[in-house]
Amino acid sequence: MRNFSLLTLCLLCGGISLFAQNSKIQSSVKNVETKVDSVLAMMTLEEKVGQLVQYNGSWDLTGPASELDGKQKESNLKKGLVGSMLNVLSVDATREAQKMIMENSRMKIPLIFGYDVIHGYKTIFPVPLGETASWDLEAMEKTARISAIESVANGINWTFSPMIDISRDARWGRIMESSGEDTYLTGQVAIAKVKGYQGDDLADQLTIAATAKHFAGYGLAEAGRDYNTVNIGENVLHNVVLPPFKDAADAGVATFMNSFNEIDGIPSTGNKTLQRDILKGAWNWDGFMVSDWGSIPEMINHGVAKDKKQAAEIAINAGSDMDMEGGAYETSLVALVNEGKVDIANINDAVKRVLRVKFMMGLFEDPYRYSDPNVAKNISYKEHEAVARDAAKKSIVLLKNESSLLPIKSSVRSIAVIGPLADDKDSPIGNWRAQGEANSAVSVLEGIKSAAGKNVKINYAQGTTLGVGERSFLMPLEINKTDRSGFSKAIEMAKKSEMVVMVLGEDAFQSGEGRSQASIKLAGLQQELLEEVFKVNKNIALVLLNGRPLEITWSAENVPSIVEAWFLGTESGNAIADVLFGTYNPSGKLPVSFPRSVGQEPLYYNQKNTGRPSNAEHVTYSHYTDVAKDALYPFGFGLSYTTFKYGDIAISSEAMNAEETLTVTIPVTNIGKVAGKEVVQLYLHDLVGTTTRPVKELKGFEMISLQPGETKNVSFTITEKMLQYYTANKKWESEVGDFDVMIGGNSKDLKKITFSLN
Ligand code: NOJ
Repeated sequence: MRNFSLLTLCLLCGGISLFAQNSKIQSSVKNVETKVDSVLAMMTLEEKVGQLVQYNGSWDLTGPASELDGKQKESNLKKGLVGSMLNVLSVDATREAQKMIMENSRMKIPLIFGYDVIHGYKTIFPVPLGETASWDLEAMEKTARISAIESVANGINWTFSPMIDISRDARWGRIMESSGEDTYLTGQVAIAKVKGYQGDDLADQLTIAATAKHFAGYGLAEAGRDYNTVNIGENVLHNVVLPPFKDAADAGVATFMNSFNEIDGIPSTGNKTLQRDILKGAWNWDGFMVSDWGSIPEMINHGVAKDKKQAAEIAINAGSDMDMEGGAYETSLVALVNEGKVDIANINDAVKRVLRVKFMMGLFEDPYRYSDPNVAKNISYKEHEAVARDAAKKSIVLLKNESSLLPIKSSVRSIAVIGPLADDKDSPIGNWRAQGEANSAVSVLEGIKSAAGKNVKINYAQGTTLGVGERSFLMPLEINKTDRSGFSKAIEMAKKSEMVVMVLGEDAFQSGEGRSQASIKLAGLQQELLEEVFKVNKNIALVLLNGRPLEITWSAENVPSIVEAWFLGTESGNAIADVLFGTYNPSGKLPVSFPRSVGQEPLYYNQKNTGRPSNAEHVTYSHYTDVAKDALYPFGFGLSYTTFKYGDIAISSEAMNAEETLTVTIPVTNIGKVAGKEVVQLYLHDLVGTTTRPVKELKGFEMISLQPGETKNVSFTITEKMLQYYTANKKWESEVGDFDVMIGGNSKDLKKITFSLN
């Protein structure tokens, strides 16, 4: 193949233009597969390998710096030995890089430009964990849509999102980037996000390719320590970790990214079972797999490859298609093929996958489609801000509201706003902020001031600082542990105010990649400040800004109101004020369990029963002797300013067979005084299986709005498919027997009924 002249190949493939911009020739090609095959047939081995190489643009370093300098990179680009770049930001920059390929290389295969657009590009939406708390899939699709448009306005056509790693450990810094602990909910979010980014047509100028990451198991790192070993068996892998990835694949996600971790001794990047057999084989997915940053050479550190060359061999044979800034493919693949260590079929398969995505994106028709300065001209950032405020307020979870301190009454004339995060305009932007401008969020103080109006005296004091010194994406944050100089003003403000809004939590750079923590208590002097303020004014509404569940047992016992406000993005302060003043009745529900103690982690609601689940009269059952074993605030939990009462479940029949369905119906009534929204959640429990089964698993949910006094009957259809799991037979199937159906407003307080599958 390598010896064929270009001309011969052109003739062989019916005159397909290398330049591929000749629409006449384009239109003569029947479909994408034919086009892909035609282009592949014309490529040299070196050019094929080039398609599997991704360079960092050096504008925004999101991993360790590469060995190659800019000059070498530029020269390789011109030779067409690069398939993609990441972190090249702006229409001009991507146009310039694209031009290097289009004007110099032989094959002129356009680049695809990737970037971590995780929760917005410029307009920043809630961090994924927060946004998932809205359970509002339509809203999540919308924010992805806007992220796509703003990305294209800046030359980006591929996002490394959604991150759909099941995350059960609050210590893990990247839990903020996930949709939390539940498999079904994460899968639903994955589908919504893929739809939002990719739309119906990848070639549409205003859509971008999405990435399902990190394949697989990355969120279950031992002890919550980033990049750490993952020890899970097939049962958890198939039943817990993989389903959201299957959902993303079925939704047509263009690319996958593999993960840094190993599972059971095999690093994901070199895992053939995961990448070739399951994803590309059983699931029949035809997009391409990009490695994580340097994860191919990292197999040397893992101890499964002795050098880059061997790492490249393992990775390509296992089905990792593109090397993100690892320098392994570009230096080794040609030789590995020539030495017979890598079958050319594996290279061809990888290249075809990359070309396929590029064709689907319309890049061969117009390589500059996504580097169009006109897109930016039509953007209304004001409109995007309104969507950001809507998404933010829906993501807030009311955890506690005793003595109805909230919503703040119109009779209140003075509010102390206290805390290191109260007037922080930066932390609400969160980590993985793409091009969200530093200090651009509406702070909680600003939001409160504009909502409270002139008649309410706002007494602000920072109280203490959280971080010390410069913050950066790649360096650890130093926490203030000694400076109490702001305490006295905070106490004074609390004393002279009717109530206090205390804004505590985490600095944006306490969570995110490489930011695992062994402690999840309020960092620095925050707890001390809270307790000092509490001594002088107990009317505290605690607003938490954070990217992970925190240990807030003292607050749960003492502070009357607690509002979980995550890192909500650009419109944070306004959205929080909407909830504090009752303009919006909170409707968010936790996508992750809040522990009583970090010692309970990893903590998740869909646990196994164990052989000794409940309290015997002595200590020999599964529990802790120093803390209750359940969550402080369970998965699915969230209060409203009204109260919802659940009636009893009605079931259409007590038995079904595999061809039948059942309907379960529950009446839900708003027994409070204001209108509100409730997420009605459906859980199932398979009582006896060939393997142990979780005590309950979320299988559906519906959001309803109810006026005071109004009742709605909420129905769910139960199908045989919902009863399937990866059984002891190592396949997805249902097993006859009894099932509990549970419905309620959180994973703990549930109504129950039983049926059997015959
Ligand atoms: C490493 C992260 O794990 C991944 O999620 C991200 O997309 C890449 N770096 C690129 O920045």
